[in-house]
Amino acid sequence: MPDVTLLNIGRAITVPDGQTILSAALAEGIDYPHGCKSGRCGNCKSRLASGEVEMLDFSRFALPPDERDAGLILACRSVPKGPVSVAWLEDEDAVSHPVREMSAEVVGTELLTHDILRLRLRVDGAPFLYASGQYATLNLPGVPARDYSMANAPATDVLEFHARRVPDGQTSTAIHDRLRVGDRLRLTGPRGSAHLRKGHTGPILAVAGGSGLAPILSILQSAVAQGMRQPIRVYVGGRDERDLYGLDQLAALAARHGNMTVTPVLSAPSAPTDRRTGFLHAAVRADLQDLDGWKVYTAGPPVMIDALTEVVLASGLQSADLHADVFFTPEDVAGARDIAVAS
Ligand SMILES: Cc1cc2nc3c(=O)[nH]c(=O)nc-3n(C[C@H](O)[C@H](O)[C@H](O)COP(=O)(O)OP(=O)(O)OC[C@H]3O[C@@H](n4cnc5c(N)ncnc54)[C@H](O)[C@@H]3O)c2cc1C
Ligand code: FES
Repeated sequence: MPDVTLLNIGRAITVPDGQTILSAALAEGIDYPHGCKSGRCGNCKSRLASGEVEMLDFSRFALPPDERDAGLILACRSVPKGPVSVAWLEDEDAVSHPVREMSAEVVGTELLTHDILRLRLRVDGAPFLYASGQYATLNLPGVPARDYSMANAPATDVLEFHARRVPDGQTSTAIHDRLRVGDRLRLTGPRGSAHLRKGHTGPILAVAGGSGLAPILSILQSAVAQGMRQPIRVYVGGRDERDLYGLDQLAALAARHGNMTVTPVLSAPSAPTDRRTGFLHAAVRADLQDLDGWKVYTAGPPVMIDALTEVVLASGLQSADLHADVFFTPEDVAGARDIAVAS
């Protein structure tokens, strides 16, 4: 089992055969920067200082060929071939809250759409510190632990999550069908680096597909509360009218902010509609052609994030300014194989 030296913290870990550097580091409780854990977002980008790794499939947007040639790797896709040393790329704006395991009580469940449930949890003990846009891992008895993004701004003792029911999904089905007010569960977090960068003063684009609105709402609430006054363009997508939610909350935030627009987009409306139609990435491409100097926050299903990533990078966005959470089960091998391999 190869040893991997993590240069940022001057610590060596042993990576079990066949495992990635990121999964071994997270198992050791190390706060390695990451997002999707599946080679799609680039948040775990690292410099390979010595040694060799086998790279599993990844999106060329997460790690463009020139960066690969320059010695960068994705820790979530890198299986060490022998002893290696790596350093994750430092992000001056990244926040680091300690990861905690907590117990919590269910204090509310409410359907937001036909398949998205608002789950409210009161955490026991000290307040849960996180940055807007981060997520926690929920542990329900009898089903696999899964990640869900906080939908409210920090500094409250009640956390809000938006869980979409995935057909045949083990944990999302349990959240919808089993959890009741008064139930208790365990959660671990905060995790993820697709959080609001408070120091950024340029324009912001926020794009949410389905329950991807959860972290986007958290980010927008914090941005407005912090008095961030730059232009904010918000796009929210669903297939049909019944898939949209949170529009009143977004309208209230836009009214407080004064320079925020909200554009709902329907991809498959079942009836004539006054809304924008088509795919989210196409609406963004039509409206915004120069994203140099912007920050983009996005969350939703893999196919949406992949299409949006291509569009925003082609419009001049710097890859370091893209903060994405891909909502799928990273362990799902079939899903991971859908990724276009960098060439
Ligand atoms: C960083 C991060 C944050 C997340 N935040 C949220 C959130 O705030 N709200 C939320 O609803 N989800 C969120 N997710 C997704 C969530 O963690 C689970 O992956 C999702 O609920 C499905 O888990 P499951 O156990 O129900 O399905 P599984 O039993 O894992 O999957 C069952 C089947 O559904 C497929 N599948 C898995 N995920 C999806 C999907 N998203 N869409 C379509 N098919 C899928 C699988 O390929 C499999 O065939 C997040 C994921 C990540 C990585
Ligand atoms: S590319 Fe590695 S965590 Fe997203």
